[in-house]
Order: sequence, then C-alpha cells, then structure tokens
Amino acid sequence: MEYQPKILPKQDSLPEKAKKAITLVLKPVGYPLRAGEELTPFLTTDDPTLFQQYARSQWIGLVVQKGSFLFDSLLFPDYAFRAITVEPESSQITEKTEISLISEQEPEPPIIQKTDNTHFIDIVGQDTAKEKCKVIAKFLASEKLMRSEWAPRNILFWGPPGNGKTMMARALAQESDFPMFLVKASDLLGMYVGDGARKIQKLYIDAKQKSPSIVFIDELDTIGLKRNYQSIRGDVIELVSALLGELDGIERNEGIITIGSTNQPELLDAAILSRFEQLIEFKIPDMDERMQILKKYASTSPIPFIKIHWKTVVEKTHGWSARDLKEKIIKNAIHSAVLNDKKSINMSDLIEVLKKNKILDESLNHYS
Ligand SMILES: Nc1ncnc2c1ncn2[C@@H]1O[C@H](COP(=O)(O)OP(=O)(O)OP(=O)(O)O)[C@@H](O)[C@H]1O
Ligand SMILES: [Mg+2]
Repeated sequence: MEYQPKILPKQDSLPEKAKKAITLVLKPVGYPLRAGEELTPFLTTDDPTLFQQYARSQWIGLVVQKGSFLFDSLLFPDYAFRAITVEPESSQITEKTEISLISEQEPEPPIIQKTDNTHFIDIVGQDTAKEKCKVIAKFLASEKLMRSEWAPRNILFWGPPGNGKTMMARALAQESDFPMFLVKASDLLGMYVGDGARKIQKLYIDAKQKSPSIVFIDELDTIGLKRNYQSIRGDVIELVSALLGELDGIERNEGIITIGSTNQPELLDAAILSRFEQLIEFKIPDMDERMQILKKYASTSPIPFIKIHWKTVVEKTHGWSARDLKEKIIKNAIHSAVLNDKKSINMSDLIEVLKKNKILDESLNHYS
C-alpha cells in the first residue's frame, strides 16, 4: 500500500477539467502504522449525513479514483479510508458529491445458543475430555477458583475427525451456562494484512467483556502451522503472533478459557503447542463404543430399526469414527427407508443399504 498524504488543493487552484464526482463510497481501513499491540479503531458513523458533511469539508477538491486512499486530518489524523466506488471514475469531490461510508465490521463471533441441545451424556466415550470439561465448568462457576493461578487456561483437543471435539465444546457451553465464542481458525484470516490479528484481538476483547467465558478455536491447524509452512502466507504469521499474545495474556485474559481443536497437533507450531497446558486426545471408538453410538442414533430415527444384529455391523467397522457411523450407516439406512416408504428398518434392509453404498461387503449375506 502506498502512503500518499494528500494535501487539500486550494479552491482557486482546482483543476478545471476534472469530472465532478457524483458518488463516492469509502471504506475505513485504519492507520498506516500500528503501535505495538494497540488495537486499531474501526471507524463507523451513526449519522451518514453528518459523515458526508465531515468528509466533504476536508476532501473537497481532491480527485479520487477507485482504490485511492483518503486520510483523515481532523478527528483521527492519518486514519485511512479507501475509495471503493467512485462515479464517474477519476473525478473530483465537490460539495454535491454523495459520500457514504460502508461499515464492513466483522460479524460478531457466534456465541453458542443455549438452544443447542448437546449434553455430556450424549457423547459416547471420550471420558478424559468429559472429565476435563466438567472441571472447566466448575472453575467457570466459581469466581474464586477462576481467579486463582490454578484455573485452566489453554486446553487442546486433538484427534482424528468426527469423534466429538466440536460436540464436546458445544456440550460444555450448554452445561456450564457460560458464553462460548466458537470460531473457525480459517475465519480469522482476513482479506488484508492486519485483519487476522485484529480479529483475534477483538475476539478476546469480546470474550473478556462477557467473562467468565470460553473461546473455542476450531481447526487450529489451518493457522497454527509450523513456521516453515507459515511462510506461504505472511498474514498467518501475524495472526499466530496475535494468538500467542492472547494465549500468554494470563492476567489480561482473566476469566477466559481457550480451547483449541486440531486433527494434527504434530503440524502445529511449537510455540503454539507449548502454550497449551493439556492436550486431550479424542480417540476413535472401540467396539463397545461403536455399538453404543449406532444404537444411540438408531434410537432417534423416525423410522424404527428393529431386530438389528448390531454386533455384525460393529465388527465390520473397525477404525470408523462416530461421525462415519452416524452419517454413513444410520443416515443412509433412514434415507433408503424413506425412499421406499418403509415403516421400519430390519437387518436385511440395513445390509442392502450397506452393500449398495459399498460400506460393507458380501460376507454379510447370511444375516439376512
Ligand atoms: N463421541 C461421540 N458420541 C456421539 N456422537 C458423536 C461422537 N463424536 C462425534 N459424534 C457425532 O458426529 C458428529 C461430528 O462430530 P464432531 O463435529 O464433534 O467431530 P470433531 O471431532 O469436531 O471432528 P473434526 O476434527 O472433523 O472437526 C457430531 O455432531 C455427533 O453427531
Ligand atoms: Mg470439529
């Protein structure tokens, strides 16, 4: 970005031939420099007409084109606005130019709604994680505990996809009755350099305002990669430094517990990994857990599963995740029953579905 402070031309020296700008849309972009960790303000206005007056009064006479920067010289000296729309192109701001400001403030990080009906009891297995979440819930509920140096701060959930990491976070939000800020790490990457760091800072400012609270950063590996991968995107490095700052901000972030989630902790940057005081593994379900998962989801089916020999299915699904069992087996069986107007799903229906979808092989025939 080129910094070109524009000096207001005197009215009598205005280029005569410049077209008059009819429309000018500005977007606030911030200062050309940032002081340490200080957060760049995001400027917006409550009164568009007043803003228009303010803008005209200081930029009248300037010739602008799409992409030009206009620097504030009054209230926020050197704060930059980018011209997003200029009509006609390369035209001069006059006292009649319609100037407006677009406020593309990032959407608020979503706070999990209490209508999300996930509870710890719905999660099959993952006992270590469940226990830890119960500890977290108890800390959050006690100001004294939360203020102590023993409060949990940064926890990492890790393990193969589809075994309950996000589900556990939702259950924690539901059961602890405290706000959770759930963000996908990839959503923190912005369009412009500086966006990511600003989003992280804003996330923690919001979490602090609502503390005690939980920040859940899902899919952490998309940003927290080892430094040799980070060089692909410069803004990722910036984002990671901002995140490290927040994870370290023990005192500043009192009342906030951060939970990160990743499929591949071995890809995470060592500095990020070391900030997590505990790494909790989410394992793929064993035979017993696979049985529980299948039965649990089958029991909520609108079309009842009857006389199913679950053991056969369980034996054939070694290494499957909870998500696979639910989506590939139970869901497919329900969809097929709906298609064929079945009133119930029995073992031969299930085998049919599994074979058709190439989920299980011919060796199941003798159960039909
Ligand atoms: N342990 C479990 N018990 C019951 N259902 C589960 C369990 N784990 C996952 N599921 C089901 O699978 C879905 C997907 O799980 P979830 O999103 O929590 O996986 P994840 O570990 O976050 O995966 P990813 O690493 O891909 O983000 C859940 O919404 C739930 O329906
Ligand atoms: Mg997840």
